[in-house]
Amino acid sequence: MSVSQLARAVHASPTLAMNEAARLLREKGEPVIHLGAGEPKSKVPIDAVLSCAAQLKTADVRYTPTEGIRPLTQAIIRYTEENYNKIIGNENVVVHSGAKQAFYNLMMTIINPQDEVIIPAPYWVSYPEIVKMVYGKPIVVRPEDGRFVPTMNDLTQSVSSYTKAIVINSPNNPSGVMYPAELIQELVEYCEKKDIYLVMDDIYHRLVFDGKKAPSVFDFSKDNSDASKIIVVNGVSKMYAMTGFRIGWTIANKKLTEAMINISAQNTSCPSVLLQTAAAGALNGIQSGVESLRLQLENNRNIMLTELRAFNGVKVTPPDGTFYCLPDFSAYRKSSVELAKFLLEKAMVVTVPGKEFGVEGHLRLSYCGSIKEITQGIARIKWALDPDSPNEIYIGDRKLRRDWV
Ligand SMILES: Cc1ncc(COP(=O)(O)O)c(C=O)c1O
Repeated sequence: MSVSQLARAVHASPTLAMNEAARLLREKGEPVIHLGAGEPKSKVPIDAVLSCAAQLKTADVRYTPTEGIRPLTQAIIRYTEENYNKIIGNENVVVHSGAKQAFYNLMMTIINPQDEVIIPAPYWVSYPEIVKMVYGKPIVVRPEDGRFVPTMNDLTQSVSSYTKAIVINSPNNPSGVMYPAELIQELVEYCEKKDIYLVMDDIYHRLVFDGKKAPSVFDFSKDNSDASKIIVVNGVSKMYAMTGFRIGWTIANKKLTEAMINISAQNTSCPSVLLQTAAAGALNGIQSGVESLRLQLENNRNIMLTELRAFNGVKVTPPDGTFYCLPDFSAYRKSSVELAKFLLEKAMVVTVPGKEFGVEGHLRLSYCGSIKEITQGIARIKWALDPDSPNEIYIGDRKLRRDWV
């Protein structure tokens, strides 16, 4: 079979691959614990469900304007004012089929072949692949000494005459760590001065713990003109537990927005009207679900940290938000891919290798599941790796003995 060079160059999504591995094992009746998941388990907001159902009942399900239906773009404009104190208009918003597609359409709109996009590690797995899909060059910046937050120096050292954009995501998938306000401010000022796009992926910005607030690029941007270099990507997937609805959006200057609408129009025409209506329902409806989810995740984060701190060889940086953490397991195995395979095989625990996020020796562990999944999952990992832990464990109704070192 002949496939394009591009198709050969793009890697499969490792997080989706882990979901599939877990699904297949569960289908076989294996007692798998999924600590690799990337979606909250809470229910979709009722306002989203009712709006979507009402739209479907009209039996009038058609194309929409490419940039999105008015009730949704208006809701996004209001959301931006309420959450960022930033006034934008319809000319700044495009709705896409998920934040992932928002990032893809954005990259299609700004990247020429060989343009460079700076991506600090650890990064969300899709950024480098999407940059490659538009024939750009991902330039991964790895902070020395294993930090999860780059310095300005780390970033600016990688800037060249080909640099088109810097992409940041804070709080961050996979580390859960939030970039400090000073760094965001310096980055905004630097990018505005150097004419480099600064793309802020804010998909987790309301899932933040310990009374903190995620610093926003909008807090520091001085340029409100059509030349503004600041772009924000967001969506309903995480904060409203609406991953299956596939609705995301971009906020960008007017010219960029117009260009992106052309790209999007030739790509998908528009996201489904049913799903847009659901997203508008979620944004306009009762917001208490976001806060309950945030509180639940904060509690889960605390439990996961307690469990991990009882683990001698593991170093963990406390997450400020999201539903992930990225502990360092290198004391047990240098290769995170081998470690993740080992844990799946021996302990039936799904994790995601840090290598996929640009950080070897770590595993991404999710705490968006139940407390039982977190405590049992970590107990199994401890059993499999720590020779000081009891060498027998029950996995489902099977009693297993550790017979390796
Ligand atoms: C940082 C980040 N951005 C974007 C996305 C994709 O969001 P969506 O489901 O809206 O495509 C994810 C999903 O895991 C993510 O972690």
